[in-house]
Amino acid sequence: MLPPPILLGIESSCDDTAAAVVAGGKLISSVISSQVDHAAFGGVVPELASRAHLRAVIPIVEAALDRAGIVASDLDAVAVTRGPGLAGSLLVGLSFTKALALSLDVPLVGVNHLEGHVYSLFLEECLEEDAPPFPFLCLIVSGGHTQLVRVDEGFRHDVLGKTRDDAAGEAFDKVAKLLGLGYPGGPAVEASAAGGDPNFVSFPRTRLPGYDYSFSGIKTSVLYHLNAMSETERRRHLDGHLEDLCASFQQAVVDMLVEPVSRAVQQTGLKCIGLVGGVSANRALRQRLEAAANAIGGRLFVPAPIHSTDNAAMIAMTAHYKLAAGHVSTLSLTADPALALT
Ligand code: KG4
Ligand code: ZN
Repeated sequence: MLPPPILLGIESSCDDTAAAVVAGGKLISSVISSQVDHAAFGGVVPELASRAHLRAVIPIVEAALDRAGIVASDLDAVAVTRGPGLAGSLLVGLSFTKALALSLDVPLVGVNHLEGHVYSLFLEECLEEDAPPFPFLCLIVSGGHTQLVRVDEGFRHDVLGKTRDDAAGEAFDKVAKLLGLGYPGGPAVEASAAGGDPNFVSFPRTRLPGYDYSFSGIKTSVLYHLNAMSETERRRHLDGHLEDLCASFQQAVVDMLVEPVSRAVQQTGLKCIGLVGGVSANRALRQRLEAAANAIGGRLFVPAPIHSTDNAAMIAMTAHYKLAAGHVSTLSLTADPALALT
């Protein structure tokens, strides 16, 4: 018998259909189905994504329940990502979860996807040590968002800075495309960067006042670097220096991500730092932020790489805390593609 409350979480905001079971605040099962079709298009095609969610949602939920050794009627509550994300994709997860809540007559908990990433730090078995104490700083770096946030107890978030254009993950994806690497670009760039010289090209680092970010400049710099060559030269350059270009680009992005966090630590006095979202799977970023945190006597908290990228475990875990705090949604809950962190 699993300890109560037993929660099912469902995530479908982008191109991953995922379901997870959390019982008594512990992760019991987590299943993710990534949509590979998008790789052929070099990015997520929203219409294809929502159709794939429709096909995947029932088998994925059944797999999560099976692996947890329970049936739907054992659930005490169901949770779902309600935004931000792709409207059509969000609607599949939301409609399914609402129907489940109605048929099982259990509470529905709507979760902000970004809040989900923050609470991935509380997935117990992901942590080498315990969770960060409130308040803490959290850098959310994903394909759609780059935000530096102060996280307080009671689901209160103060967004200190965010990207003014591209997200960090988007920069990885776009540069990967320029370099002829696959989608998603982040893991491909990281793998290639491992054997490269990070000082091969000194791409300019954009630094903005406050804690805001901008990644469109570095993407353009990579483009200009390649466009300065003839077709033949470019091919030869990519053949001989792909790893160096990836390492130089990755180093520049890591520099740009880490610098405002170091300043925020000094200015806020908050020494515990969370690093979450798809790009937090990047080892170079983890190492640099960890070194920056250690240098000022602070600590870095990161989820296991499987919980850095989109998953439903983080949605179910956020819902666990929300439910405990009495945050329950009604069946009139709507999807909000532009939902902000508040
Ligand atoms: O959080 P996530 O799975 O989805 C969103 O909410 O957007 O993040 C996906 C992003 C993609 O842009 C992907 O390229 C990036 O995370 N990413 C990485 C790595 N793994 C995933 N970026 C850099 N290094 C990685 N190892
Ligand atoms: Zn995400």
